[in-house]
Amino acid sequence: MDASKNNSEEVLIDKFNRVVDYVRISVTDRCDFRCVYCMDEEMHFVPRAQLLTLEEISRIAQAFTELGVKKIRITGGEPLIRRNVLKLFEDIGQLSGLDELVLTTNGSQLTKLAQPLKDAGVKRINISLDSLDAEKFKRITRVGDLNNVLAGIDTALATGFEKIKLNAVILKNRNHDEVIELVSYAGERGMDISFIEEMPLGVIANHDRAEAYYSSDEIKSDLEQAFELIPTTETTNGPSKYYKVKNTGTRVGFISPHSHNFCDDCNRVRLTCEGRLLLCLGQEHSVDLRKTLRAYPEDNEKLKQAIRDSMAIKPKGHEFDLTGKPLIFRHMNVTGG
Ligand code: GTP
Ligand code: 5AD
Ligand code: SF4
Repeated sequence: MDASKNNSEEVLIDKFNRVVDYVRISVTDRCDFRCVYCMDEEMHFVPRAQLLTLEEISRIAQAFTELGVKKIRITGGEPLIRRNVLKLFEDIGQLSGLDELVLTTNGSQLTKLAQPLKDAGVKRINISLDSLDAEKFKRITRVGDLNNVLAGIDTALATGFEKIKLNAVILKNRNHDEVIELVSYAGERGMDISFIEEMPLGVIANHDRAEAYYSSDEIKSDLEQAFELIPTTETTNGPSKYYKVKNTGTRVGFISPHSHNFCDDCNRVRLTCEGRLLLCLGQEHSVDLRKTLRAYPEDNEKLKQAIRDSMAIKPKGHEFDLTGKPLIFRHMNVTGG
């Protein structure tokens, strides 16, 4: 791939005048965990032959940077369990025009991969951590080993990334009583933390989402028992609304797709591991980039045109409803966080 050819001034703009300069790429739908809000216990994964190859993913990433994309997040499933994934980070890390290569992970592989990821050019990492209690952690992830993840976080901290953010999905009666401990843990180690309201993506047996709903407003008032939260206008151009914990540098974010909508400023699209470009996390509008890529293996212009055209169908926003059947049948591991 010749990354030096990127001298385009082009930007992607949708029909609501939003600039899309951020792509989240899911490199696998597989995961070594089975978080209750994300996956069913028994899941059918995409057959390997249907996955984009790492080379195809790099080609799409290059096309996006030539169209003005500044930030790429690698996600999954658990991205770090895909074989040879480091090569992808190395290739994308070299694309000119890209300001930030970032990663969302469950942390299970970080003891061995934190350093090579930094070497490849990864700037910031978001790590999921829903509980600091080993048993609760196991109940939420079904199989995850808390100590391994905590060791991964320690390794990542010692590696010296620009920023590490924790993501915690808060569920009533599972981990809602841990929000103060989670903020203290993050703050003591110089990390930010975001609390996420569960989103209804895919049907999950034995898990009632309406019953598990715990709103950002409830979390915030729980935190205010222990901390003074000062609103900030800071943004990472993500959906988090941030507060600062008084007298510390810790930032606490709330991602609240139910209680506060943030679609008006949406700057992102998502690529699934099969090459479907999803224009919104909460809608089905999509374009099959794999088809274009494989029909024109030598012609990146066709790929870029398919991406430009996709802007016409980016929806205005999502409509989530926790009480009925999910409107979106993809699970989060397919969507890519
Ligand atoms: P930065 O802002 O770059 O730190 O990242 P981020 O918060 O966009 O990324 P992260 O992977 O930490 O995302 C956390 C969660 O935010 C995701 O897993 C989703 O649950 C949620 N989220 C991110 N983008 C969207 C979006 O466009 N719509 C909705 N509804 N939720 C989103
Ligand atoms: N709703 C909200 N967040 C979810 N995640 C996975 N599934 C869901 C869901 N249904 C979170 C993970 C991780 C991020 C990538 O997405 O916990 O932090
Ligand atoms: Fe894996 Fe992340 Fe889904 Fe948990 S939320 S099962 S860690 S992809």
